[in-house]
Amino acid sequence: MPSVNKVDISPLSDEEIPIAFQVLSKSFGHEAPFVDIYFPSHDTPSGQAQGSKRLTVWKQTSEASTFLKATTRGDQGDQELIIGFAVWTLMKEAPPAELAKTENVEEVWPDEADREFMTRLWSDYVIPRSKAIEDSGGKGVYVLELLAVHPEYQRLGAGTALVEWGTKKADQQGLQAVVEGTPIARRLYEKSGLRAKIEEMRFDVGDEFASRRKPKLIFMTREPRK
Ligand SMILES: CC(C)(COP(=O)(O)OP(=O)(O)OC[C@H]1O[C@@H](n2cnc3c(N)ncnc32)[C@H](O)[C@@H]1OP(=O)(O)O)[C@@H](O)C(=O)NCCC(=O)NCCS
Repeated sequence: MPSVNKVDISPLSDEEIPIAFQVLSKSFGHEAPFVDIYFPSHDTPSGQAQGSKRLTVWKQTSEASTFLKATTRGDQGDQELIIGFAVWTLMKEAPPAELAKTENVEEVWPDEADREFMTRLWSDYVIPRSKAIEDSGGKGVYVLELLAVHPEYQRLGAGTALVEWGTKKADQQGLQAVVEGTPIARRLYEKSGLRAKIEEMRFDVGDEFASRRKPKLIFMTREPRK
């Protein structure tokens, strides 16, 4: 593990999105089926270009989303390194259950079966967060939509700092925080006060996709603290 100085959290710029996307790709590797299908070929130059383009559109069109970077300085203290990345969104309305309403599905998933599989995953993926938004009675909830820390810089507190940026905001506004968490991130979320509400989210993709890897995600929530 490289020796590093302290970790800072600050807004990510549009120009930094390609670096953040690489951090995302490296950190998830191929351990997370949802990321593999949501960001096709995310470890290739074309997949990274497309993923970065989608993140840029998202960042520029969703005022309620905050794109954050975790940075540190190298051994010489001169160069800022982006080691982590997160997106927190204050959601007051449930996201569309139909993926085609938020993504250019033909372009991102040109293969029809991939497109159908992703569309089915998506409609199940948004159910718990939509329920949380509905239960908030119009106040909304803070959703941690993405979190990734570069493998060479994990266990240094960057993940915690990115999570706590959002839980602090949620506390200030008296809102619930939620995340569809990977098993690897569970400990971190628990340390930050999130609790498993759904131990394993349901994905009913149908028999024709029985052989595909399904996401293993835990739906976690945290009540605001005073
Ligand atoms: C989950 C992830 C973001 C954690 O980032 P991080 O910067 O290493 O997190 P922190 O250093 O703040 O770790 C906080 C605590 O979480 C737990 N933790 C973190 N990584 C862990 C791991 N690989 N195994 C077990 N526990 C882990 C530990 O309790 C750790 O505290 P400690 O180091 O004092 O023991 C990072 O492992 C990652 O990017 N994973 C792949 C992508 C992913 O799954 N993202 C979450 C999407 S929902």
